[in-house]
Amino acid sequence: MDKLKVMTIFGTRPEAIKMAPLVMELERRPEIESLCCVTAQHRQMLDGVLEIFHLKPQFDLDIMEPRQTLSTITSKCLMGLEKVFQEVRPDLVLVHGDTSTTFAGALAAYYQQIAVGHVEAGLRTWDKYSPFPEEMNRSLVGRLADLHFCPTEANRRNLAAEGITKGVYVTGNTVIDALNTTVRKEHRFTSDRLNDLDCTGRKLILVTCHRRENYGDPMEQIMSALRAIAERYAGQVELVYPVHLSPVVQEVAHRHLDGLNNVRLIEPLPADEMHNLMARSYLVLTDSGGLQEEAPALGKPVLVLRRETERPEAVEAGTVRIAGTRKEDIVAMTAELIESPAAYETMAHAVNPYGDGQACRRIADAILFQFGRAERPPEPFAGR
Ligand code: UD1
Ligand code: UDP
Repeated sequence: MDKLKVMTIFGTRPEAIKMAPLVMELERRPEIESLCCVTAQHRQMLDGVLEIFHLKPQFDLDIMEPRQTLSTITSKCLMGLEKVFQEVRPDLVLVHGDTSTTFAGALAAYYQQIAVGHVEAGLRTWDKYSPFPEEMNRSLVGRLADLHFCPTEANRRNLAAEGITKGVYVTGNTVIDALNTTVRKEHRFTSDRLNDLDCTGRKLILVTCHRRENYGDPMEQIMSALRAIAERYAGQVELVYPVHLSPVVQEVAHRHLDGLNNVRLIEPLPADEMHNLMARSYLVLTDSGGLQEEAPALGKPVLVLRRETERPEAVEAGTVRIAGTRKEDIVAMTAELIESPAAYETMAHAVNPYGDGQACRRIADAILFQFGRAERPPEPFAGR
């Protein structure tokens, strides 16, 4: 029997981190010919991940431009992927999550009548403008996809509520598979600025912020809150903030936070460095999706710099709270976690609602089952 041709598509940093362990799993399967195409919606931030995980994509569309718009990303991906799919004719295309690359990848495959598998399926806020445009991207991919790999049971229920019940598997999130390969107690950072951080004498607060729906006033409020926290707790806390390369984010972060000696605005970190820094931090302030999944697995409390989350599992487990985007709320909730050991302890326990490190194995098994190459489907991920 011919090998099953499975082509993995991704373009941004988080997709790459979460798809890398899956590409490696697919490469280990003798029944599968694994091919990889990157759109390079992100260039530097993608290349860093490819290097860490030793991935060498067969196709690279190299689409990134400064201050790119949603339309340019989507149209360049569609045009580039049409050629790739016509040349390769995969049996299955895998896309991940909710970026513009994800949406365009699923649509381009559909146009060629190629089956689509959606990794990290079923996350919803039910608000089409938040997160923007991710909620609509993932909903549309849900309609286009033939296979749906849901991290959690709650994600499966979200799809069922939309009438999507066929080809659905609960697998856990591949981010936990990735995290298991990167976090090491003895990790030495490549930069001495990070090796020299005093993580015991001072409380290390790890910050990231990049979401499009936070551009403008919400991001101004967030940065102003970070400044207020750094000033109020000078000598007690150290903020480390690897700033996303988006020029919009760079400008606002530097305008508010330059010149404070307990705030380190640094370049985006390689994934393994980021994971190990998180493992040494006291608290995480973020609007990132991936960090909301990783930090709970490492026992780190998270305050989410957004109005809502499509990842309610860790909120229910008590390790993540929604801080919103108003300055006073962010400062007050952070202050409580700095000043009250009791409040801190109630949030600082490790939970794994998003995965057990076996998501990639389940996804590969499900693909083989779906294409008649395995007798049984994988057992579902059972949650905490
Ligand atoms: C994208 C995704 C978002 C995801 C985020 C992860 C969409 C619409 N958004 O948002 O869902 O959470 O990635 O980080 O798909 N840039 C560089 N070098 C890089 C990466 C970005 O210079 O390596 C700059 C470029 O000027 C680029 C800008 O950042 O135009 C914005 O990148 P883009 O992918 O459009 O948006 P993100 O905010 O990164
Ligand atoms: N990350 C990283 N370096 C950084 C910041 C984040 O490797 O400087 C990782 C982080 O650990 C997580 C992923 O990037 O795995 C999250 O990406 P991002 O926040 O850009 O996107 P989102 O998850 O919000 O889509």
